[in-house]
Amino acid sequence: MTTIVAAVLMATSAQAQVQPRVLGDNHVMVSIDTNYKYVLLPVEERAENASVRVIGKDNQSYRRPNVRLSVDHIDYYVPLEIKDGQTLDIIFHGDRRTKGVLKEFACWKEMKFSNTFDTSNVERFRPEYHHSPVYGWMNDPNGMFYKDGEWHLYFQYNPFGSLWENMTWGHSVSKDLIHWEALPNAIEADAIGTIFSGSCVVDTRNSAGFGKNAIIAYYTSAAEAQTQSMAYSTDGGRTFTKYEKNPVITSDIPDFRDPKIFWHEPTQKWIVVLAAGQEMQFYSSPNLKEWTFESSFGREYGNHGGVWECPDMMQLPVRGTGQQKWMLVCNINPGGPFGGNATQYFVGQFDGHKFTCESKPEVTKWMDYGKDHYATVSFSNAPENRHVVIAWMSNWQYANQVPTHQFRSSNSIPRDLDLFADGEETYCGVIPSKEMLALRGNKVKKLTDACELVIDVRGSMELTLGNANGEEVTMRYDAQQQTFSMDRTKSGDCSFSEAFATVTTAPTHGALKQLRIFIDRCSIEAFAADGKMAMTNLVFPSIPYTMLKVKGGKATIYEIVK
Ligand code: FRU
Repeated sequence: MTTIVAAVLMATSAQAQVQPRVLGDNHVMVSIDTNYKYVLLPVEERAENASVRVIGKDNQSYRRPNVRLSVDHIDYYVPLEIKDGQTLDIIFHGDRRTKGVLKEFACWKEMKFSNTFDTSNVERFRPEYHHSPVYGWMNDPNGMFYKDGEWHLYFQYNPFGSLWENMTWGHSVSKDLIHWEALPNAIEADAIGTIFSGSCVVDTRNSAGFGKNAIIAYYTSAAEAQTQSMAYSTDGGRTFTKYEKNPVITSDIPDFRDPKIFWHEPTQKWIVVLAAGQEMQFYSSPNLKEWTFESSFGREYGNHGGVWECPDMMQLPVRGTGQQKWMLVCNINPGGPFGGNATQYFVGQFDGHKFTCESKPEVTKWMDYGKDHYATVSFSNAPENRHVVIAWMSNWQYANQVPTHQFRSSNSIPRDLDLFADGEETYCGVIPSKEMLALRGNKVKKLTDACELVIDVRGSMELTLGNANGEEVTMRYDAQQQTFSMDRTKSGDCSFSEAFATVTTAPTHGALKQLRIFIDRCSIEAFAADGKMAMTNLVFPSIPYTMLKVKGGKATIYEIVK
């Protein structure tokens, strides 16, 4: 028995060295051994990109990822699936290539054919209960939808390194919004472009003609221009076929992207909202294929300190009123209240043609007052009329520099949205999704690196998380001003970016009575228990925070058991 297992292991873990053929001062070809599943590519993060063309049997090239192949040393490996490939045609673009040196590059010594790729976690900052990619770079959540007991999360993904590049839709699925299973990439780059952000809907009416309950994905094809393309899935979102008439929506506006689709019941139409420069545009369609421009919103409204991106639209109940209002989500980068990106929103009415904001143009509202909460969008087709959102937990100011290698970065916990009134204005309520309560384990005496803190607040409060290396995060509630703040200037490693060490401050819209704080290795998410304040910040302590001091409140610590 033991011998058989050992033999199987040997057969599957066998590797073979590649034999590079150097063709010039920046050009190498590698013949692929098709008996293997992968070529393991050695990556040096700060090397320049090489373009790796995968040439197939028919001498055609369908894949051309950019990979930072190692020149001096190896930071980590990424697997290139061999699939249809016969030859790799590699062009180096960096300055450091000079005649004769190319063959000495570190990548050749360790570039291997292999049947396996080891994805065991090697990162101490990898979250316990937040979604993160097994390896590689991740930004925006994309195409999220719920169907048949499964929550699908696609995401902007680089499978060939932990810096932004080669945009692809990665894919994970969960039955409870907490335990995520990694699935193969869902949508990959093609001749029209790389695959930027977008959304999915469940076509319950078979409007598009791909079958009842087909999953329809809309995404931005990014190349010289940004255009909107469509793909459909008849296996519940596992695999997608691209529509033959792509791109479907075009424009001469350079920043034209991130389509979010929803069904508008009163007009019986599909609506897409997408970011177009400094405004959001609305189009309608009866069949998800032909779109009519309806209107645009936003030129004079809210914050314009950066590019408008990743819109969302949803109709939400206003607490205690029996009323419903529409909320237009508008992610913006930069322009956020503490630098870099943030999620702003507008509240008003939508009649299927036009969004009318009920606030004055100068009013700006933020969904989360931390620095690391972006590209927030909701799941389509969520059960019980829920509006569940997930954000990308980072900031473009330093997302490519945060101190992790195997993966960068993770998502926020899931949150349910509603609206509440405060004076003349209506704001977005943000509550940790009920699935988070199921994770609460025993009450414990000491902080751990994956726990939930519940603080009953009495008047003004000060709370410090600390460790034996003198690193700390201080949170304060000022009862007079009704503001909550989080200071991460001494939280640990802040050295990778000048924009990281910050204090973030939020209004609490009334007295803060109870706080819920979720800690998970490198993130802190603080919520007013009534949902009137949310703040998401990353931290990189050298050792976990185990010390807790609270003045003006009573703390309960719960283990989080995944
Ligand atoms: C937002 C964003 C989107 C775009 C994507 C590209 O973070 O810039 O507008 O589709 O990232 O990865």
